[in-house]
Amino acid sequence: MRRKLIAGNWKMNGLRQDGLDLARALAARIRGGGPDCDWLVCPPAQLLIPVGEAIGGSGIALGAQDCHTEAAGAHTGDLAAPMLADAGCSFVIVGHSERRTDHGESDALVKAKAAAAQAAGLTPIVCLGETEEQREAGRALEVIETQVTGSMPGAAEPLVVAYEPVWAIGTGKVATPEDVAEAHAHIRGLLGGIFGAEAAEAIRVLYGGSVKPNNARDLRALADVDGGLIGGASLKADDFLAIANAVPAG
Ligand code: PGA
Repeated sequence: MRRKLIAGNWKMNGLRQDGLDLARALAARIRGGGPDCDWLVCPPAQLLIPVGEAIGGSGIALGAQDCHTEAAGAHTGDLAAPMLADAGCSFVIVGHSERRTDHGESDALVKAKAAAAQAAGLTPIVCLGETEEQREAGRALEVIETQVTGSMPGAAEPLVVAYEPVWAIGTGKVATPEDVAEAHAHIRGLLGGIFGAEAAEAIRVLYGGSVKPNNARDLRALADVDGGLIGGASLKADDFLAIANAVPAG
C-alpha cells in the first residue's frame, strides 16, 4: 500500500517571518491530529533551516526545490544534495517545469540531479508533464514517455514522481480526472518497464497543477494518484490541510 504524500512547493515565496508563521501553523495543526498521510514542505533555500526547526517533531518532512548534480565544487549559487541533507532535508524536487523552462533543464540533467539526491540519501521528487501545445497536438503521452525514460535515476528507491501538466501549474486549470488517471497509469507502466512491475508499484506518483481544496476531492477516487504536489495552495495552512483532508491516506 502506497501511503499518500501531501507536499507543499512554496517556490520563491516567503521572507523569514512568513515562512516561520506558515511552518508553525502547519506544525501545530498536524501535531494536534491532522489527516493520516505523509507531509512535506519545500520552502525556498534560505528558509530550510528555520522552517526545519519550526516543524521539528511534528512529523512534517523538509524538502528542497532543486539540487546540483555534484556533491561539491566550483558552482556559484548552487546547492549540493549533501548540503540539503545536512540542512535537515529528506526530499528534493528535481525537474520542476519552472526549472526546465527558466533554466533549460534537460531530462539528462534531471536524471543526474535525481541520482545525486539518492546518493546523498534524499528522496528525489522527479517532476514531469506536457505543455498545453503538446496536449492539444495529441502528444501528451508521448512527451510523458520521453520524460519518464530520460529523467529517472538508476534506483527505484527512494523515489517519488510528480505528474504536473505545465498548463495546469498556477493557472487555475485542472486536468480532468480521466486525463490524470490516463497519465498516471501510463507513468506507472513506464516505471514498470524501467524498474520492474513490483518496484514500480511501490513508487508514489503525485499529481500537481492548481490543486485546491475544492478540486482535490476529484483526485481522491483515482487509484494511481498517491498524493499531491501543491504550489499556491500550500502557502495557506488552511488550504493545505483541507487538500490533505480531501485526499486521505489509503
Ligand atoms: P500550483 O503549483 O499548485 O500553484 O499550480 C504546483 C507546482 O508547480 O508544483
